[in-house]
Amino acid sequence: MTRPGSGQPAQPARSAQPGRPARLSPAELARAKAAAARLHAEFAAADSDEWAAGAEPGERDSLTDEPGGVRLQKVLAAAGVGSRRHCEELIGAGRVEVDGEVVRRFGARVDPQRQVIRVDGRRIPASGDLVYLALNKPAHVLTAMSDSRGRTTMTDLLGSSAGRLFHVGRLDYDTEGLLLLTNDGELAHRLTHPRFGVPKTYLAEVAGPVPRGLSRQLLTGVELDDGVASADRFRVVEQVGGRALVEITLHEGRKHIVRRMLAAAGHPVTRLVRTQFGPVTLGSLRPGTTRPLSTREVGDLYAVVGL
Ligand code: URA
Repeated sequence: MTRPGSGQPAQPARSAQPGRPARLSPAELARAKAAAARLHAEFAAADSDEWAAGAEPGERDSLTDEPGGVRLQKVLAAAGVGSRRHCEELIGAGRVEVDGEVVRRFGARVDPQRQVIRVDGRRIPASGDLVYLALNKPAHVLTAMSDSRGRTTMTDLLGSSAGRLFHVGRLDYDTEGLLLLTNDGELAHRLTHPRFGVPKTYLAEVAGPVPRGLSRQLLTGVELDDGVASADRFRVVEQVGGRALVEITLHEGRKHIVRRMLAAAGHPVTRLVRTQFGPVTLGSLRPGTTRPLSTREVGDLYAVVGL
């Protein structure tokens, strides 16, 4: 089986080396924290008046400036929306909303910790304290911060920064792939709540050959000991010898759900990789490493859970 997105054979996880828990290299850590660091740096910088001086007054709005707030274009730029010039253009074009109101003033002062800011309707991660990461979890890593049985955990992968982050749901010890990490408790809560039914996609290596009827069976629903479970989408990616690679999408969060569904349908899973969580894809992220989510990805995550 190749690693999804890379076309390369899967690399053994760095954490698999006995006695040497994998840690992010300084360069990887720096990259993972880049978005948050950029925000912090921007907000800490002197809030120069050069922006007010050059700004066109634009249309008036009824937004009250936050005393001690940060200029809107500065918040947008710091959140990764684009250069300040580009952010001014967005504001001037009426594409930026603060707490539901279109703001066209370049000098408007906002509180990025408290106010909801949207560009083209998509919320931006404006608060400099918030961190959003994608991790490619290797097999044989526990989705937990510690383990009484000494197994490799999130803390071994991420170092001390793990303690401040929530893992958004869990992957089985043996399951690989995309795990989201954040310190945004409300977003994490909603992404895992059944009410929002966020879809997740998995690649599974199963015992084959897979009959044509399997797709209908999974889409219709298979009986499990805790009730029926059904897939939203299913396709066979490839069949080789006695093995098949299948892709399954479902919005269920029950424990071992993919393994149980495929086993119940007569095709036990021999390897399982999560390739997508809502709008975020695993891509070519190396096993055991993280990347910061883009401003657009975070906005799309907010959108799928109505934030
Ligand atoms: N379904 C499973 O069976 N295992 C996982 O880790 C995730 C979904």
